[in-house]
Amino acid sequence: MELTSPALTLDTLRARVLSCSKCPLSESRTNVVFGEGDPSARLMFVGEGPGEVEDETGRPFVGPAGQKLDEVLASVGIDRARVYITNVVKCRPPGNRVPTRSEMEACFPYLEAQIALIKPGLIVTLGNTSTQWLLPSAPGITKSRGTFFTWRGGILLLPMFHPSYLLRYPSRERGSPKYLTWLDIKKVREWLDTGKAPVGG
Ligand code: URA
Ligand code: SF4
Repeated sequence: MELTSPALTLDTLRARVLSCSKCPLSESRTNVVFGEGDPSARLMFVGEGPGEVEDETGRPFVGPAGQKLDEVLASVGIDRARVYITNVVKCRPPGNRVPTRSEMEACFPYLEAQIALIKPGLIVTLGNTSTQWLLPSAPGITKSRGTFFTWRGGILLLPMFHPSYLLRYPSRERGSPKYLTWLDIKKVREWLDTGKAPVGG
């Protein structure tokens, strides 16, 4: 079935991705990490690629970075089960290296199909890799985080720091990555509550 077929569903797409060997990451993975959450979520998170625990379990953001993400969501009362969470590449890059351009190219049709099926109103990109992949013209993450962009003319896109970056910088002082992430997740909360992207800040 074509990825753009009207008959495609998240379940048939998942089945297909689980047996994918389009790129060399298929040779080193333990499990494909397709993504999980509410299939009709308004809010979707896109990370870089599975880490070790994700590769072992087949679930996105369940290792240390995932626990940090859960904390960030909980700080504004967002339940992880009500959002959709996935990554640019569905198989773990060995040693957690950044996925290559050709790996991301090979995997991207799956993310595009997930977005087309879920139809989120807002995509939050976590970290530089997914931000620059979806929006090549965006400035680096330190500049782009907290700014609302639009993706392909429709869906809002908000870059945020990757949760693993927060693990490296424990400070909560004004201006710290954690502080800035708290400002950003409050904007997400506001968008969920009002349907509007907050201006400024
Ligand atoms: N880092 C990511 O980018 N994605 C995961 O699923 C886990 C860690
Ligand atoms: Fe297929 Fe994507 Fe896994 Fe590569 S990373 S093997 S393209 S599912």
